[in-house]
Order: sequence, then structure tokens, then C-alpha cells
Amino acid sequence: MALLEILQFPNPILRKKCTKITEINKDLRRLADDMCETLDYHKGVGLAGNQVGYMKRIIVIKIPEEEQFRVLINPEITETFGIREVEEGCLSVSGYKGIVNRSLWIKAKGLDMKWQKWKIKADGLLAQVLEHEIDHLNGIMYFDHLVNHVKGDWHSGLIQLEQESK
Ligand code: NI
Repeated sequence: MALLEILQFPNPILRKKCTKITEINKDLRRLADDMCETLDYHKGVGLAGNQVGYMKRIIVIKIPEEEQFRVLINPEITETFGIREVEEGCLSVSGYKGIVNRSLWIKAKGLDMKWQKWKIKADGLLAQVLEHEIDHLNGIMYFDHLVNHVKGDWHSGLIQLEQESK
């Protein structure tokens, strides 16, 4: 396994749309393992393919209340309900956080690493992370959803984090 470099905004790759995965092979399995390791290292909750320069539809998620990583292929949101304001950050936008509008709950579907279909209804952090990571696959950044965002100025509405010692 290996740690991957996480691309930082405004790298243009983060604005590109990822294409569908058509098969699971050895390279993809290795990439998925590396993405999980990278996510764990940075203590993040989710990572999308294009954040590590891979332009296909794969995301990995690890939320604190779950033991396992979720590796999801070609994920899509099929239904959303409601709206709530939540605090959010992104490993590709180091040093900032913001308040965004997210759904109360969502339904999503896709494939797992065994090419089995999955469907989920999620709320709370899992719903938020699914929306955030699937947005990445479509070239959408979380600050596009900021409550007080001025289009064209990506810093606007973001809150700068205090420097943390690593
Ligand atoms: Ni992100």
C-alpha cells in the first residue's frame, strides 16, 4: 500500500467530471487500498478518485461510527429530502471549513468492489459525506454549496482554520 498525493484546489482536475468504471481489476483494487490508507492517514471521512488524480467514479468513505471503509463504485444519489446547514471541510481545500446546505436524508446506489449492487438510505454524517464525495466525481466542490458564497471567488464564505501543529 502507498500514500497518495491529494490534489489541492484550484488544481483543474478537481473541476473535471469522472467517467464510469467498467470493470474491477488488480489496479483498481490497489488504488482502492491506497485511497483508504491515504484517507486514514489524513483522518478524513471521504475521498474521491479525482482528488488523487484518478478520473473514474470511485469513492472511499470511513465515518467514525463505522468500523469498515466503504469503497463505492459508480455511486449516484437517487433521491434527496429536506435541507439542513452543516459544517464541512475537504482534504483538497486544506485550512478551511464552511457552512453548507445538505440534505436531511438521501438515497444512493452503486456497485461495490465485488461488482454487487448496493442501495442505501442514509442520514447524518454518512449522507453528508456521500453528497460531498459524489459531488467531487462531478467536479463540484463543497464551497459551491456555501450558504454565503459569491460565485467566482472560491474563498468567499469560507472560514480559515487556525494553524494546527502536525
Ligand atoms: Ni472533499
